[in-house]
Amino acid sequence: MRLPKTGTIEIAPSILSSDFARLADEIAEIASADVKMVHLDIMDGHFVPNITIGPPVVAKLRKYSSLVFDSHLMISEPAEYAERFVEAGVNHITFHIEAAVEPERLVDKIHGFGCTAGVCLNPDTPVEAVEAIAPLCDMVLVMTVRPGFGAQKFMPEAAKKIIKVREIVGPDIRVEVDGGIDPQTAPLVVSYGADTIVAGNAIFSKSDRITAINALREATKQIL
Ligand code: DX5
Ligand code: ZN
Repeated sequence: MRLPKTGTIEIAPSILSSDFARLADEIAEIASADVKMVHLDIMDGHFVPNITIGPPVVAKLRKYSSLVFDSHLMISEPAEYAERFVEAGVNHITFHIEAAVEPERLVDKIHGFGCTAGVCLNPDTPVEAVEAIAPLCDMVLVMTVRPGFGAQKFMPEAAKKIIKVREIVGPDIRVEVDGGIDPQTAPLVVSYGADTIVAGNAIFSKSDRITAINALREATKQIL
């Protein structure tokens, strides 16, 4: 399981808004909508004011799913924990530039584990902060809400950074967007150059997740 090659738009459902008591079933349901990846939001209560799941839960989920596990580490010490998430079975690790001490070394380390690597920037972090590291990554994640919680309001100014990120990385690196994405905001972020669309609330607040995923997919095809 590898991050899909560039050239396609992928929907990455975020489990943050799913029913955590039924995680394996929730992931199986989105898999039946033909998504290739699931976005796992990992929060430590330090880097963000919320706590979600850690390696033991990821390892159990791995047994139930063959989707690409796109892990988004919203944790203070990503270099300390990356290996444990790889052992648990994630396929991709995104860390926050605001939390990384030696980002280039961390990208190398993640690649050394056989995983793809991503760097993420918060809404208040300028694109310049990832300018050097972005071309070394397989995916760059632009936050369009402050990380920590699902169902927040999309921040249009933060989304504009996608344009610059896409200019920096060119066509061969994925640009992912996370926060407040729904069928209304998806066409805009795609027009800016995003090709990997995270959505939590827009999918898991709906009783029919498959219809919700298809609505998002259709929205990404709109030409603005
Ligand atoms: C926020 C997380 C997101 C979150 C997005 O900290 O990183 O992945 O689940 O949720 P929505 O799509 O509800 O804004
Ligand atoms: Zn996320």
